[in-house]
Amino acid sequence: MASLLISGGRPLCGEIKIQGSKNAVLPLMAAALLLPGTTRLSGCPRISDVAAMAELLEQVGARVSWEEDTLCIDAATVHPIPLKQEDTRKTRASILLLGALLGRTQCCEMAYPGGCAIGSRPIDLHLKALRGMGYTVWEREELFCEGKGIAGADIYFTFPSVGATQNALLTAATIQGETRLHGVAREPEVQVLCRFLQKAGVRIDGIGTKNLKIKGSEVLMPVNEVVPSDRIVAGTYLVAVLAAGGNALLHCDCVRELAALVKPLRAAGAKIFELPEGIRVGAGERLTALDYLVTEPYPGFPTDMQSQVMALAAVCEGTTILEERVFEARLATAAQLKRMGAKIYLEENRAIIQGVSRLRGAAVEAGDLRGAAALVIGGLSAEGETLLAGYSYILRGYEDIVRDFTALGAELRLTESR
Ligand code: UD1
Repeated sequence: MASLLISGGRPLCGEIKIQGSKNAVLPLMAAALLLPGTTRLSGCPRISDVAAMAELLEQVGARVSWEEDTLCIDAATVHPIPLKQEDTRKTRASILLLGALLGRTQCCEMAYPGGCAIGSRPIDLHLKALRGMGYTVWEREELFCEGKGIAGADIYFTFPSVGATQNALLTAATIQGETRLHGVAREPEVQVLCRFLQKAGVRIDGIGTKNLKIKGSEVLMPVNEVVPSDRIVAGTYLVAVLAAGGNALLHCDCVRELAALVKPLRAAGAKIFELPEGIRVGAGERLTALDYLVTEPYPGFPTDMQSQVMALAAVCEGTTILEERVFEARLATAAQLKRMGAKIYLEENRAIIQGVSRLRGAAVEAGDLRGAAALVIGGLSAEGETLLAGYSYILRGYEDIVRDFTALGAELRLTESR
């Protein structure tokens, strides 16, 4: 297994382009199954989650190919063969094939999804939505779903789950007549899926709000779509510059979506400027503590940035408290940062972080994608060398973190040794 060797303590300066969004493109790949013909997704990131999803699409009959940075999905024919756990466990987004296959073929048989171990990750809200739309769902060792959706359903979400909202949208897209979803997730990636489905011929009202009205269509058309910038990758690099020092321009189109991250960082003294081409971030003086941050559904502070912000807070002046309300196991990164000298105390779902002036390099091990990114940030800001095991987690969501940080002047490389 590959590890990452980071020589910390160098400021990050320069400019880089932020890759396409993982969480936006995965639902679009599932949605392509609804569209008989070739869908083109340009600016698609080359990450392992996309590769895993592409394999699943091919298993059900789609043909997937790359034309430079465009992913082409030809879904002229789709057949719902059972999807096995060895494949569905490679990405959490495999659960979206449930809604897409039901919509296209009225039938789906698949193993439960995988993804990073960041909490219990149930799928009850997904199944409740599908049942509410008239489908029959059997939960055994695997999932079996079939039926024809009925128009006029009202689905109420008790929590605004991103994946469950997307699954309901995918299924409702083919139901003739109106489906109403109440209490949905408002994440930008849900909005991207809505607009994609609109282009394909689905009528959707309420995009960006908690309630969506969907009027499906039997005939859907393939779509050419540009994948937006990955707001979490942009946020990760922004936080890295603040932790390691330096000044960088991040070319991206997701500045507004980062508001819940940028606001507390500015309050702590960070110099962050919104520009037409992206975000400029300058480290300047050592930041003060970030006060009290709570992870929440969008537009709140994103759980996907909690670990990286923990790495930054570890070197801010004063005490920061991070409360994790979405994925309970995400505070596990604290134990690894402590190996680097961070002073972090865990109390239930809260991390109390007393900033130290400098972390020191250490051997650490990642247990999930964003936790791995946080440890890279810790390593970049630390004095000395950090050896990070579990590099494969990074590949799930970051196209080439070595390329990007090297372009900003960091010293890091892959190594097989551990
Ligand atoms: C998506 C993102 C992930 C992000 C998360 C929250 C993708 C591929 N992944 O994950 O990066 O961290 O949103 O912003 O887009 N829940 C239930 N029952 C369900 C579904 C979810 O209880 O049926 C709970 C989960 O345990 C969790 C919370 O709802 O506590 C949020 O989960 P959800 O929004 O569904 O996250 P994902 O779609 O899995």
